[in-house]
Amino acid sequence: MVNLRSALVLGIAQICHLGAVQATVSPQRMVHDLQALLSAGSEVMLASNASYAQDFTSRFSESHSPSFVVGAKPKKVSDIQKVVRYASQNNVPFLATGGGHGYTWSLGQLQNAIQIDLGNFQTVEIDTAANTMTVGGAVRIGNVTHDLVAVGKEFRMYGTASDNLLSAEVVTGTGELLNVSATSHPDLWYGLRGAGFNYGIATRLKYRIHPATNKGKVTVINAMFPAALNGSVWEACNSYVGHQPKELSILFAIRFNETLGGISPVGAFIYFGPKEEALKVVKPFLDLKPLYVEVHESNYAEFSSVALYQDVADIGSRKAIDFAPFTLNLYKVDVKNIVNVINYMNSSLTRNNDLKGATLSWAQYPLDGFLRYPVQSSAFAYRDVIVYFSIDGFTPEIAKLPLLDDFGKGLRSLLQLGSGRPDLETYVHFGHGDEGPRSWYSAAKLPRLSALKRVYDPHNLFRWYNPVPTIGH
Ligand SMILES: Cc1cc2nc3c(=O)[nH]c(=O)nc-3n(C[C@H](O)[C@H](O)[C@H](O)COP(=O)(O)OP(=O)(O)OC[C@H]3O[C@@H](n4cnc5c(N)ncnc54)[C@H](O)[C@@H]3O)c2cc1C
Ligand SMILES: *[C@@H]1O[C@H](CO)[C@@H](O)[C@H](O)[C@H]1NC(C)=O
Ligand SMILES: *[C@@H]1O[C@H](CO)[C@@H](O)[C@H](O)[C@H]1NC(C)=O
Ligand SMILES: *[C@@H]1O[C@H](CO)[C@@H](O)[C@H](O)[C@H]1NC(C)=O
Ligand SMILES: *[C@@H]1O[C@H](CO)[C@@H](O)[C@H](O)[C@H]1NC(C)=O
Ligand SMILES: *[C@@H]1O[C@H](CO)[C@@H](O)[C@H](O)[C@H]1NC(C)=O
Ligand SMILES: *[C@@H]1O[C@H](CO)[C@@H](O)[C@H](O)[C@H]1NC(C)=O
Repeated sequence: MVNLRSALVLGIAQICHLGAVQATVSPQRMVHDLQALLSAGSEVMLASNASYAQDFTSRFSESHSPSFVVGAKPKKVSDIQKVVRYASQNNVPFLATGGGHGYTWSLGQLQNAIQIDLGNFQTVEIDTAANTMTVGGAVRIGNVTHDLVAVGKEFRMYGTASDNLLSAEVVTGTGELLNVSATSHPDLWYGLRGAGFNYGIATRLKYRIHPATNKGKVTVINAMFPAALNGSVWEACNSYVGHQPKELSILFAIRFNETLGGISPVGAFIYFGPKEEALKVVKPFLDLKPLYVEVHESNYAEFSSVALYQDVADIGSRKAIDFAPFTLNLYKVDVKNIVNVINYMNSSLTRNNDLKGATLSWAQYPLDGFLRYPVQSSAFAYRDVIVYFSIDGFTPEIAKLPLLDDFGKGLRSLLQLGSGRPDLETYVHFGHGDEGPRSWYSAAKLPRLSALKRVYDPHNLFRWYNPVPTIGH
């Protein structure tokens, strides 16, 4: 008898079957074919080859990460086009990779794929007279900051990175190479800025750069607070809403501290200005009498190595971490609700050792840069976020991951109640993977983004990373 439940299960099984890609070639055959196709200087090998771990970029997170059978490291743009066409013709899924920092669990659906490692695309050209910077598709922010500071320029503070894009060369889902800008393929230009990974592989990107604020010098103030003061800490955060200076970012990490025997909020206040001014600006926090205060004068290229007592830099460069990541956008500081969350965290972590690796992070950026551009200007969905709140369940033992996953989900629901929005909204690059397209891209943008998908990625090859659906909602 086919009851409703088995019909549903069958239906799901069928969808899974349709979704599963049947490669028409073996991994050995792929290596053979791609080696013959690609230009000299390209690398192609089985992922089981001992050289693979050395020559190919590994991932930041091992939890729900993609699995690869073949690694291809193209030398030229035309090689990237060849891999895309080959993979498409043979039904082999692939992922272009840069830094390997994408951690959404949606990537776990990608199995037995080809890794297209963009490691050969790392050129950086800075034109100080024209105020532009042109970079290869795998360049990371850390690869450019030293050079920018050296010539008195900067890249942040003036909107999102995508707001400062001037043009990009992109290999699309049809294998074509397009030069995309406001005047060339303007439809894709909209989608590229905020959702670009859904439409192709960017090989070269040209950005606008700006004179460095405060000559690239920054003051970083770290301060550690006792948990008992957490309510006052959030009140202080709230006092900046609506008038946070554009030079100030407010960060917090809340974790279990063995010495204290409890959780504690640790703040980092990053101010693009002189020390005396910074100390005045963060007075509401210092007035709370933190347990410890540390003041560093640093520069734009190095501040992450001193912020949060070095934790920002330490976490950023680590590899192969197991963690359950959750993030949500807060549009207000609901002190009462956040205190509830902190108390829930306190009681959960105090009672359960397996949860002690859970870290909450608070990122309260100035809105000035985001608000320089209207929300309709690009696919970037949310410009009025007061706090990016992350719940990261780190663990050295993969067996503990489900526990941290449940904890994170529960905490996210609790926080959502005071987010200022009826539905869960998440910055697409911070998403866990279970939020869904409306949450990553906003309902208002989806029809346009789905339509672009059908034009520039008609075979839906770029569908692994918190994807835009092909069918409009
Ligand atoms: C510790 C940590 C901190 C982070 N902090 C921030 C932050 O402050 N702000 C922020 O915005 N993000 C942040 N992220 C998220 C990160 O920036 C994004 O996940 C970003 O996509 C990572 O790019 P990648 O090249 O390193 O990742 P990968 O995992 O290599 O790629 C991620 C996705 O981008 C696609 N992709 C990569 N390169 C290209 C290309 N050239 N063209 C087209 N598609 C491409 C890949 O195919 C994949 O779908 C953080 C991540 C971590 C792990
Ligand atoms: C591993 O890759 C290297 C470099 O491409 C190649 O020379 C070697 O033959 C490969 N080894 C195996 C066992 O395939
Ligand atoms: C860019 O930064 C990464 C990570 O720090 C590093 O591995 C890579 O070599 C850098 N690229 C260049 C061209 O310096
Ligand atoms: C792509 O277009 C931009 C803007 O029109 C232009 O500056 C750039 O030189 C073009 N690149 C190529 C390779 O044609
Ligand atoms: C957080 O702050 C509130 C006061 O605002 C306090 O009642 C609560 O006990 C604090 N939580 C913890 C875990 O110390
Ligand atoms: C934990 O608290 C102690 C004592 O207050 C402090 O010295 C130490 O740096 C804290 N540890 C971490 C990892 O923050
Ligand atoms: C923290 O949690 C423990 C264990 O549940 C509890 O005994 C303690 O009272 C909590 N502290 C606060 C301030 O709520």
